[in-house]
Amino acid sequence: MPVTAARPVDNVDKASPLLAVDKVTIEYKTRERRVRATHQVSFEVHGADRFILLGPSGCGKSTLLKAVAGFLPPTEGRIAIDGQTVQGPDPDRIVVFQEFDQLPPWKTLRQNVVFPLLASRKLGRREADERAMHYLNKVGLAAFADAYPHTLSGGMKQRVAIARALAMQPRVLLMDEPFAALDALTRRRMQEELMALWEDVRFTLLFVTHSIEEALVLGSRVLLLSPHPGRVRAELNAHAFGLHSQGSAAFQSAAKRIHDLLFESPLVLSDPAPAERAAA
Ligand SMILES: Nc1ncnc2c1ncn2[C@@H]1O[C@H](COP(=O)(O)OP(=O)(O)OP(=O)(O)O)[C@@H](O)[C@H]1O
Ligand SMILES: [Mg+2]
Repeated sequence: MPVTAARPVDNVDKASPLLAVDKVTIEYKTRERRVRATHQVSFEVHGADRFILLGPSGCGKSTLLKAVAGFLPPTEGRIAIDGQTVQGPDPDRIVVFQEFDQLPPWKTLRQNVVFPLLASRKLGRREADERAMHYLNKVGLAAFADAYPHTLSGGMKQRVAIARALAMQPRVLLMDEPFAALDALTRRRMQEELMALWEDVRFTLLFVTHSIEEALVLGSRVLLLSPHPGRVRAELNAHAFGLHSQGSAAFQSAAKRIHDLLFESPLVLSDPAPAERAAA
């Protein structure tokens, strides 16, 4: 049986977003107090976008991603996939986390990728096995299919996590700083591989980072969030930049502009100008 192709995105209606986050405020209630993590954040992600949430530590990036994944309900506002309000986790949204211990250590790589395919009743055993090998091959790990996670490097474990997520062919792939714990060279290689995978599969990506460079290199659009509680500071177009534009003057000046926007005075941050939302 042939491996199912990734969902086509060419016929996606560009007018209606795949993912819509509308004025989402999220608060954590502890016994002592309430913590407002995000304040009225809105953005839209279309099919095959590489949409980046960028902001300093504590601005609510992970919180937003967990809410999109359906793990956390918004306190106010609405999150919708294809116009349907997100009610909880669903295989149409799969998360890749930063930690290397996302893979059950008692399963081989192949079993790690097969398991969610069977658990979600997407495929029968033979098709699931074929799909798993297809995606392990795409991340260069087919030869390690019968190895166990503890025998892998951090980068290899992240490749398995990416293969496992893509094998589910989610509507949106959610990634929370997946390369942040890797050394600089491996991180760069993983960025290159993710871009190559995107060229090949054209999945829709919502990617969290606090690295300005990573946002510009990987993203097609970048949402800047102000420090705690996270508000939308600006939304920028990053189509023009890729892996090989890092040294260019245009790249440096975009990075500087983002840096300035992120670190402007809190007074300005509390009242983002509507004009900033326009594409750069
Ligand atoms: N489970 C929780 N209970 C209470 N407060 C929380 C909880 N999780 C996060 N917060 C608070 O919400 C705010 C946003 O946290 P979040 O983890 O979303 O930030 P972040 O942007 O992902 O930061 P980082 O870049 O460090 O990962 C922080 O002030 C944090 O302390
Ligand atoms: Mg985080």
